[in-house]
Amino acid sequence: MPQQRTVLVLGATGQTGRHLTSLALEAGHRVRALARTPAKAGPSRPGLEVRRGSITDELDLDGLLDGVDAVVSLLGDVQAQRTRQVNTGFVRRLVPAMRRTGVRRFLYQAGALSAPPHQRLSPVLWAIRNTVARSYDGQHRDNEAVMRYLADEAMDLEWTVHRAGIGSDGPSKGVLERTQGTPGIGTFGDCAAYDLRLLDDADAVHTCDLSAYRKNPLG
Ligand SMILES: NC(=O)c1ccc[n+]([C@@H]2O[C@H](COP(=O)([O-])OP(=O)(O)OC[C@H]3O[C@@H](n4cnc5c(N)ncnc54)[C@H](OP(=O)(O)O)[C@@H]3O)[C@@H](O)[C@H]2O)c1
Repeated sequence: MPQQRTVLVLGATGQTGRHLTSLALEAGHRVRALARTPAKAGPSRPGLEVRRGSITDELDLDGLLDGVDAVVSLLGDVQAQRTRQVNTGFVRRLVPAMRRTGVRRFLYQAGALSAPPHQRLSPVLWAIRNTVARSYDGQHRDNEAVMRYLADEAMDLEWTVHRAGIGSDGPSKGVLERTQGTPGIGTFGDCAAYDLRLLDDADAVHTCDLSAYRKNPLG
C-alpha cells in the first residue's frame, strides 16, 4: 500500500483490529475506524479518526468511504452471528457503496474454519469446527456467506479474504504468508501485520487463502 493512505478499519476495537490500527498508524497510514463504542478505540493518536456507529445501523456509507483508499474488515460478533448473518448483510450494503465512491480494495478477515466459496473444508478442519470450535459455527456460516457473495457478485472489486487461524494474543511467532495448505496458529498481532501486507499483494486479489508461518523468516 502506498505511503500515507487512508484505511477504513471495521472492527478496530477487536482483538485483531486493535493491532492492525496501531500497526497502520505506525506505518504512517491514516485510519478511519467505525466503532460502536469509540472509547474502546483507545487514546487519540495522530492519523486516527474514530466515527461512532454499528454496521447494523443505517450508516452514511458514502460519507464513511469518502477519501478512503482501502477497507479492512475485522468484524465479528459471535453472539449476534449465531442467529443473523450480520456481516453478510453489511457487506452487501458496503460493496455497492464502494462502487459508488470508487474504493476498490477490500480485505476481509474470516477464519481458517470457514470454507472458501463453493469448496469444502479439509476433514481435519471440518472435525475441529464441529467439536471444539462448535460455538463459532454461526460466525463461520456468516463469513462463508460473505465469501460467496464476493466471489459471485463482486469480482469487479479487488477483494482478498484472509482465512486466519489464531490461537493467542502473545508475542510474535514469526511472519505469516499465504497458503492453501496447513494453516498456522497465529497471534492476533501477526495476523494484523499480515493483513496489512496483504493490502499490497496483487497476487492475493480474489483469493480466500489460509496463512502459515514462513519457515525462513528472513526468506
Ligand atoms: N478470535 C479468533 O480466535 C479468530 C480466529 C480466526 C479468525 N477469526 C476471524 O477474524 C475476524 C475478527 O475476529 P477478532 O477475534 O479479531 O474479532 P473480535 O475481537 O471479536 O472483535 C470484533 C470487532 O467487530 C466489532 N463489531 C462487532 N459487531 C459490530 C457492529 N454491529 N458494528 C460495528 N462493529 C462491530 C467489534 O466491536 P465492539 O468492540 O463494539 O464489540 C470488534 O471491534 C472474524 O471474522 C473471525 O471469524 C477470529
